[in-house]
Amino acid sequence: MAIQRKPLVAGNWKLNGSDSLVEEMSSALQKAEISSSDVVICVPAPYLAKFQSSGFDIGAQDVSEHDAGAYTGEVSAEMLAECGAKWVIVGHSERRTYHAESDSQVAQKAAMAIKAGLTPIVCFGEEEEIRDNGTYTDHCIAQLAAVIDVLGIENFAQCVLAYEPVWAIGTGKTASPEQAQDMHKSVRDFIATHSADVAEGMRILYGGSVKADNASELFSQPDVDGGLIGGASLKAEDFIQICRSA
Ligand code: PGA
Repeated sequence: MAIQRKPLVAGNWKLNGSDSLVEEMSSALQKAEISSSDVVICVPAPYLAKFQSSGFDIGAQDVSEHDAGAYTGEVSAEMLAECGAKWVIVGHSERRTYHAESDSQVAQKAAMAIKAGLTPIVCFGEEEEIRDNGTYTDHCIAQLAAVIDVLGIENFAQCVLAYEPVWAIGTGKTASPEQAQDMHKSVRDFIATHSADVAEGMRILYGGSVKADNASELFSQPDVDGGLIGGASLKAEDFIQICRSA
């Protein structure tokens, strides 16, 4: 019998937020009583402890690839866990682009997260020119293969994946449901070359200009198991509608 994957909706606040947004969002989410999907909000690290009282899962947006030591400005996976985080985004394209994070660093960050008991949300995706030249599937699979190489397939099974085509992030240009399904299916087929069970159970989210009015169609694709939501996760009403669509 096919495994039922529980949908997950993850908000990514990026470099946005304030005490008042934390309060507004926690009370709106509590009132909304969303139970059909898992919901996690990935906030800037200083808000982790504050958001914890909401009863919703919280996550961080990045983690150090190191345990401890002379790495000024970094935050370790253990520290995030002590602040109440259960999840952490790794390999977001904004980290890969602005901080030159390599596939192997992303893999190392995922390994650190797992060691500390956090679930990594591993992002992958192609830039517009790679979409245009047709090599996007190979590009994305190479990003994930690097993570499997470091983690091994058993630990990889503890990750959630997020396909985020770079050309769709914050641009209002969403991938079509067919484009998303096509990539998610290719990735699942690739994972199945390592383990059919891991492939079947793996949650693969879609991210990139998901809005209240396009979420249902994207999430209804058979291999799309929810979303990673940027801009729309800052508006309680929109985010709640997206959670309900899952
Ligand atoms: P967006 O961002 O929903 O604003 O496009 C998604 C993301 O970067 O996670």
